[in-house]
Amino acid sequence: MDPIRVVINGALGRMGRKITKAVVCEPGLKLVGAVEKEVTQRYLPLAAAPELIPFSSDLGSLLRNCNADVVVDFTNAEASIAAARIAIKQKVNMVIGTTGLSEENLAEIEQLCIANGIGVVVAPNFSLGAAILIHLSKFAAKFFNYAEIVEMHHDKKADAPSGTAITTARAMLQTHGKPFIYPEVTREVLNNTRGGQMDGIAIHSLRLPGFMAGQEVIFGGAGETLRLRYTTINRGCYLPGIILAVNEVAKRKGLTYGLDALVEL
Ligand SMILES: NC(=O)c1ccc[n+]([C@@H]2O[C@H](COP(=O)([O-])OP(=O)(O)OC[C@H]3O[C@@H](n4cnc5c(N)ncnc54)[C@H](OP(=O)(O)O)[C@@H]3O)[C@@H](O)[C@H]2O)c1
Repeated sequence: MDPIRVVINGALGRMGRKITKAVVCEPGLKLVGAVEKEVTQRYLPLAAAPELIPFSSDLGSLLRNCNADVVVDFTNAEASIAAARIAIKQKVNMVIGTTGLSEENLAEIEQLCIANGIGVVVAPNFSLGAAILIHLSKFAAKFFNYAEIVEMHHDKKADAPSGTAITTARAMLQTHGKPFIYPEVTREVLNNTRGGQMDGIAIHSLRLPGFMAGQEVIFGGAGETLRLRYTTINRGCYLPGIILAVNEVAKRKGLTYGLDALVEL
């Protein structure tokens, strides 16, 4: 079988560098191009690549010359939707990990996919552990009336709580079918010690150097607790999910949202 021909958009970013190396090492995939906002060399500076990889700041012209099957995009929301408009119209499938795409962006991507008969996977979190944690939390939420979420991230993360914590809480509320019971304290000695609250689920955000990303969901019942926890130590945690998406995307026409849809949890 011919290898899947891959272009990376945002190739010199923190994720882009990891993904280019992973694609080069993955049997069945072939890196055929790389794109960055500003480029000073014709070929990607990548020691591990078996051949010269065309490198450009112009995704459209690169795609016209490299016969790509999939563009993997880890840039920013503005660059990502611009890349989607270019790649999908050239009938190239996409795997998008960039966060911050709006509902309007997603609707536009879906409509472009349908019009051009190709597939796009968008997943704000490619970690398999996170996808399975959300799935298990959703299941456990049927059986417990009390639940709290503690999410842990590195100290540079701008937002709190994490998108994954919010997605987890929403999934838990779906199966629970009503708000969880939130034990109010009558005297809060230090403000906000009980964290934020979403329909009875307290959410606590830890921000510390040393963490990358992680989350624990704790359910409470009579005489027992159930703790579900996942931790990450580096960005390698996203690579199996991304490689899976690259292998699957061409088989699924239209927009597939979230890694859970790909692993059929
Ligand atoms: N889905 C997931 O599991 C997952 C995991 C980790 C990160 N993310 C998301 O992935 C995105 C990238 O994260 P990161 O940590 O790799 O960020 P990063 O290090 O800033 O990398 C982004 C790269 O994209 C480049 N870029 C910006 N505009 C571009 C354009 N128009 N065309 C081509 N390249 C362009 C940037 O260049 P400049 O530096 O010159 O601007 C930079 O090299 C973020 O949205 C992040 O939240 C998602």
